[in-house]
Amino acid sequence: MSQRVLTGITTTGTLHLGNYVGAIRPAIEASRAPGVESFYFMADFHALIKCDEPDRIARSSRAIAATWLAAGLDPARVVLYRQSDIPEIPELTWLLTCVTAKGQMNRAHAYKAAVDAATAAGEEPDAHVTMGLFSYPVLMAADILMFNAHRVPVGKDQVQHIEMTRDIAQRFNHLFGQGQAFFVLPEAQVDAEMDLLPGLDGRKMSKSYDNVIPLFEGGSAALKDAVARIVTDSKLPGEAKDPDGQALVTLYDAFASPEQRAAFRAALRAGLGWGEAKQQLVALIEGQIGPMRARYEALMANPAELEAILQAGAARARAIAVPFLKTLRAAVGLRPYTDGATTAVAKADKAALPVFKQYREADGKFYFKLLSAAGELLLQSEAFEQGRDAGQWVARLKKDGLVAEAPVLREGSDADIAAALAAFQDA
Ligand code: TRP
Repeated sequence: MSQRVLTGITTTGTLHLGNYVGAIRPAIEASRAPGVESFYFMADFHALIKCDEPDRIARSSRAIAATWLAAGLDPARVVLYRQSDIPEIPELTWLLTCVTAKGQMNRAHAYKAAVDAATAAGEEPDAHVTMGLFSYPVLMAADILMFNAHRVPVGKDQVQHIEMTRDIAQRFNHLFGQGQAFFVLPEAQVDAEMDLLPGLDGRKMSKSYDNVIPLFEGGSAALKDAVARIVTDSKLPGEAKDPDGQALVTLYDAFASPEQRAAFRAALRAGLGWGEAKQQLVALIEGQIGPMRARYEALMANPAELEAILQAGAARARAIAVPFLKTLRAAVGLRPYTDGATTAVAKADKAALPVFKQYREADGKFYFKLLSAAGELLLQSEAFEQGRDAGQWVARLKKDGLVAEAPVLREGSDADIAAALAAFQDA
């Protein structure tokens, strides 16, 4: 089965070099791997939580979409969409909101930070907290679960949200799944490079530190200006320099081949001046970003083309979201009156149980397998000499769930297997 990778970028600003190196570039590389289905989106519903400037949100969404494409994302390979073009996402948010514990949301870092700041300022704890901010993790869970993503590349600050997503998914599966898992439990993927790129002052590159190098905005002149402001030590040209721990060198590394990295370090140790080093850094970055910037500008100048690409992306996303939401609506009881009465549903439920099948192969050996209610293979046993041994293992799995020493191969997702085995325990 292919792996689904999904990530979103909140549309409240323009992107800087840290976003490119930490998020955009690895995501595009990942999307080229075989067996990967990628879903990348502009999180513009999320943007409304932090920003009440409509023009800024609209401009940012467009700039981020153009950036993804300019950086090499292939919209035929990747499902690229605007979150707000998928009305099924807010609808799923509501279904999930109804199974989310408020106490868990009270513990969300972003909410707690807002409460702490208000309390420190002598205000009511919830003074600046909207329901949007409070429910932010549920909207994010809907983003992820709508497409049953296996992997979600995020920064460290978002890991808690993925954990919450897993809890919400598990709760929904348990309440409404009747032994079937609707939702895959996603894993956060925190890449080392995600947080590493330093800004002009050596701290993490971030808008809030005002230390960023813009990705495309302002053209090559802005790039040159920013690089000129990178803080270095005060060694003069000709003096030997220690490349370690220099923001300038880390920035160079992010764009250089191993050979270039080694040569740059050697040159600094041999006395290369910082001014000259900065020129080399600008040339290196510009060599890669320059051609992308030209594509970016062309896309920004042609909103109709960009819009058409996003409409096509939304259609592909909705081809998945619309039928899936229909299933989920039916599961929670939102069904057309004509859709069979409760009895018909109950009958379907009876049939919809996972099964263990025991059988003997042509090799004379005994086997068993676990099939989901929909008939997908979840577990496949190894061969047994005695049918009795296979039977004993089936009984044990039904009673204890998937114990580590079970002589089986996992063919389905962990979530599906766990849900199927749980159905036997409930029975
Ligand atoms: N909350 C994320 C951020 O601020 C953006 C985001 C929204 C996201 N929905 C998502 C990321 C779903 C990954 C998956 O960085």
